[in-house]
Amino acid sequence: MKAARDASRSAYAPYSKYAVGAAVLTRDGRIFTGCNVENASYGLTICAERVAIFNARLNGAGEFKAVAVYAPHPPEPLPCGACLQVMSEGDNHPDILVGNSDGTTTQFAFHDLFPKIFDFNPEDNPEL
Ligand code: THU
Repeated sequence: MKAARDASRSAYAPYSKYAVGAAVLTRDGRIFTGCNVENASYGLTICAERVAIFNARLNGAGEFKAVAVYAPHPPEPLPCGACLQVMSEGDNHPDILVGNSDGTTTQFAFHDLFPKIFDFNPEDNPEL
């Protein structure tokens, strides 16, 4: 959560003013961070969680024990559906911790936030 808080300081959030930081803990004990990056064309904004996951992937890590997300203001930065789908890749799904400046951290099992996962393997479908 400390790494996520540090990363929130790099957020580019001039539209929402809601600066988010995320940190992923890999199965081999490394931490990679990300922040939200907004855009004048609002829909092009990317959340802190996906930036952190793509940063980890760039560095050769793809299996995560935990994802921490921090925002300095309410509400709690619960990951959106797009980020949860990205986190659902692979066999092991991370615990999710959300925190904000009042010092509270809430921990969730992945499946409590995202009980149904879209999975796709063309080998499962002989028509493809
Ligand atoms: N945001 C995140 O980066 N992560 C979350 O968990 C919640 C939302 C960002 C997207 C947008 O830049 C701003 O917060 C407001 O939605």
